[in-house]
Amino acid sequence: MKRRSFVKACGAGVSCAALATSLPHALSEAAATLRRYPRVQLVNGNGQPIKASALSAGKQWVFAYPFKATPAFLINLQTPVEPVSGLLTETGEPYEWPGGVGTTKTVVAYSAICAHKLAHPTPSLSYISYRPARAGESHSAGFITCCAENSRYDPARGAAVINGPARQPLATILLEHDTQTDALFAVGTVGGEVFNRFFDEFSPRLQLEYPNGDAMALSNSQVVATPLETYSDNIMGC
Ligand code: FES
Repeated sequence: MKRRSFVKACGAGVSCAALATSLPHALSEAAATLRRYPRVQLVNGNGQPIKASALSAGKQWVFAYPFKATPAFLINLQTPVEPVSGLLTETGEPYEWPGGVGTTKTVVAYSAICAHKLAHPTPSLSYISYRPARAGESHSAGFITCCAENSRYDPARGAAVINGPARQPLATILLEHDTQTDALFAVGTVGGEVFNRFFDEFSPRLQLEYPNGDAMALSNSQVVATPLETYSDNIMGC
């Protein structure tokens, strides 16, 4: 790992040796924007571990990561996806996206906060969502689209911006897959985060939703991943 990556990745107070051994080899060497957060297991609404092989293809779930108030998408794409290099944050920092996980290499996760003006799923409404490929569509992995102002992201290429006003990919949520148990864990992020902007922008609402003041608390131990259709009453199409 390059020195700058190493310093950033270790800044969250986690053993750097542990970090280097828990991430894909290529990523550990090249991720200038990698950040380590608590290792959190994804579970279903009954508290049971989510198994990668049990995720329906073309479906999406919402879970809170890396903070209690920041939603992320867990998506099982319809096709395996390989690592992608050469992605850039809004400030020009290059990074590598590690590709899909699970035995089928189809499971990915991204921050669900649009990189443009921060549209994100809430219990009442979601302007941003994953749409699987339709019959005959050339892009077999589908798209993540933000209908607020039509930014469209490629979930098979690190959520790179396909079109629209967003100036960087959605931040990647790094996943670990336990090959013995088939369980999934979120362990960090790579790419351009917008969490500071999110907390600044939505502070009044978050204070109401999190009266204990823990909106910015880190997710820990386990988080529930909920189907978007259950999480949000209205999913906007465009
Ligand atoms: S907030 Fe998503 S495109 Fe503007």
